[in-house]
Amino acid sequence: MTLVTAQMSVSLDGFYAGRCDPTIENWIEGTEAAGFFRITRWVIDAMAWRDRQGFRGGEPSQNSDVIAETFDAAGAYVMGRRMADGGEVPWGDDPPFRAPVFVVTHRPRPRLERRGGTSFTYVTDGIHSAVEQARSAAGTKNVAVAGGGSMVRQVLKAGLLDQLELHIVPVVLGTGMRLLDADLGLGDEEAIELTPSRVISTAEVTHVRYDIKGRAPLVLDNRGRDDSASPG
Ligand SMILES: NC(=O)c1ccc[n+]([C@@H]2O[C@H](COP(=O)([O-])OP(=O)(O)OC[C@H]3O[C@@H](n4cnc5c(N)ncnc54)[C@H](OP(=O)(O)O)[C@@H]3O)[C@@H](O)[C@H]2O)c1
Repeated sequence: MTLVTAQMSVSLDGFYAGRCDPTIENWIEGTEAAGFFRITRWVIDAMAWRDRQGFRGGEPSQNSDVIAETFDAAGAYVMGRRMADGGEVPWGDDPPFRAPVFVVTHRPRPRLERRGGTSFTYVTDGIHSAVEQARSAAGTKNVAVAGGGSMVRQVLKAGLLDQLELHIVPVVLGTGMRLLDADLGLGDEEAIELTPSRVISTAEVTHVRYDIKGRAPLVLDNRGRDDSASPG
């Protein structure tokens, strides 16, 4: 069965990149990059990641296994326009996805064909359409929402996500782009409930996989008040 999954590396305080820099053209010198590279440092030495990038070296490790598993499970990807634009030059002619990628954007653009089975289709009619197109392309594999944060928040908010995997890095950034924020539109008496289904802990990062149960009302649960102690 095809699942819609999402994977994000986050700092302990929930940031997926440094402070938002609207001018992505010069992203590497902007405010987002240093935080992003710290949060994703666990990826750089992993053999599975280096292999997909066409880089030599890397270590077989639990972190590498997690990356390999994520790539293997994905039959198609959904991605936000900012992440896709930021990756376009570094990914080059042979991006690491080796599957169709559906980029959600307001800016129409012809489809890009790349080597190794990767294509980028620019979807201008919203996240539901992008997820449906990715689902059709994924066959029996999963649809992976690869980021950025805006994309992951929107699929979570819309109830489209089955599984969220957070790679929680033991660093506090204090500021930056927060993954789970007020844009989720949760009121004072509503929450999104999740069930942790797998935890893999390493020195560099803790991988926590959650199955999404969905929106649920918050109820006042005051069982901690000891009424029996009252006189009478
Ligand atoms: N920590 C991690 O694991 C991780 C993973 C991936 C990326 N990142 C980082 O995350 C940052 C990018 O994330 P982000 O949240 O800023 O952006 P994003 O999700 O990659 O892309 C946001 C853009 O997508 C388009 N978009 C979003 N929702 C849309 C909708 N409903 N309809 C039409 N278009 C829509 C808009 O672009 P337009 O309207 O302008 O077309 C919007 O500006 C980068 O710094 C990247 O390096 C981190």
